[in-house]
Amino acid sequence: MDIDLLNWLNLAVRWLHVITGIAWIGSSFYFVWLDNHLRTPPRSKEGIKGEVWSVHGGGFYHNQKYLVAPDELPEELHWFKWEAYFTWISGFFLMVLIYYLGAELYLIDRAKLALTPWQAVALSLAGLIGGWLVYDGLCRSRLGKSDLAIGVVWFLLLTAAAYGLSLIFSDRAAYVQIGAMVGTVMAANVFRVIIPNQKKTVAAMLAGQEPAAYLGAEAKQRSLHNNYMTLPVLFIMVSNHYPMTFANPYGWLVLAGLSLTGIVIRHYFNLRHVGRASYGLVLVAAGLFLLVMLFAAEATKRHQSGLTEGVSAGFTQAQAIVGHHCVSCHAANPAHPDFDAPPGGVMLETAEQITQFAEKIYEQAVVADIMPLGNETGMTAEERAQLGAWIAAQ
Ligand code: HEC
Repeated sequence: MDIDLLNWLNLAVRWLHVITGIAWIGSSFYFVWLDNHLRTPPRSKEGIKGEVWSVHGGGFYHNQKYLVAPDELPEELHWFKWEAYFTWISGFFLMVLIYYLGAELYLIDRAKLALTPWQAVALSLAGLIGGWLVYDGLCRSRLGKSDLAIGVVWFLLLTAAAYGLSLIFSDRAAYVQIGAMVGTVMAANVFRVIIPNQKKTVAAMLAGQEPAAYLGAEAKQRSLHNNYMTLPVLFIMVSNHYPMTFANPYGWLVLAGLSLTGIVIRHYFNLRHVGRASYGLVLVAAGLFLLVMLFAAEATKRHQSGLTEGVSAGFTQAQAIVGHHCVSCHAANPAHPDFDAPPGGVMLETAEQITQFAEKIYEQAVVADIMPLGNETGMTAEERAQLGAWIAAQ
């Protein structure tokens, strides 16, 4: 029996990551919805800020939000934190499994910077910690009074980071690193501010004191920031499947554009919750998305034609390139020690197979330099251009 344990572990952790991520985002979206739908009760009740009625799954629900806290703590009080913690833990584990243990294959792009695996991993970890310190510093600075100001500055800093990362990591890894940095900030908001503040509120109440109102305000601010960071992070987490976004020299700008689209969509829903639906925002989001699409397509086209200009190659040459750089992994019985089966089910041994996968080969090895994985065989830009020229002539 041959079990590819690493791949099964990858599947299990990824599954966990998606499950906990859905639980976290689901509950966080629900509470934003709840907060935005609070209405003043018809007969004003002391200490109640607002209430909301809803019906779901055949039952009626009646939630009330307290101005600060109820006079007495209920016996059973639910907290929401493990969803966030496990999303981060499983996400970090995946990062280690794929990008750190496989640094040479996935994280490093020697054509950009010849980092050793340890250097690359240290840079990535420094980014995760540094991102949180910068963001937290912003919130605690004078800028912290304006969510809009923090939002703009944080967005610009992340865009600059995306640009910097695009120069040192592989294109895919640069995107994922930004997603991991933002995800870390979101989880740290829960771990370092939201939950501790809630604990202080509860402790004050148990001591018979009035909890300080700033504790709630601070937690609410972090929670609001998380709300706007959610959709960009979700895009980044699926971005690996879409080389047309990252595989060009302006991938960092495409990332900024699509993140902004996500932020606008989130803003639309937040306004809609409070009865201020502005369909103009949907149009803005759609327009932005189209603009980014056109921009990315043009950037990719220029990038490619810059590569393949004046280059021509016949099939014999193309097959020789594939034979040299791809077949060690993409064969019925791969010679590469890390693979027992053709990765992704892609075999490139015969002329028919190469023709069958021509478009995919173009996407992975010409438009993007994802393949050969980690460029272990040192495929040159010229070889990519020749392969591209042959495929383009098909
Ligand atoms: C070191 C092993 C290795 C080498 C060498 C390699 N690949 Fe891959 N290839 C993989 C792995 C692993 C995957 C699946 C996971 C991924 O995308 O990282 C893959 C996936 C693919 C896919 C499918 C992508 C998709 O989205 O469905 C194509 C196409 C591909 N490779 C083409 C190539 C070409 C062309 C070359 C040579 C220029 C090449 N590969 C060299 C390991 C390799």
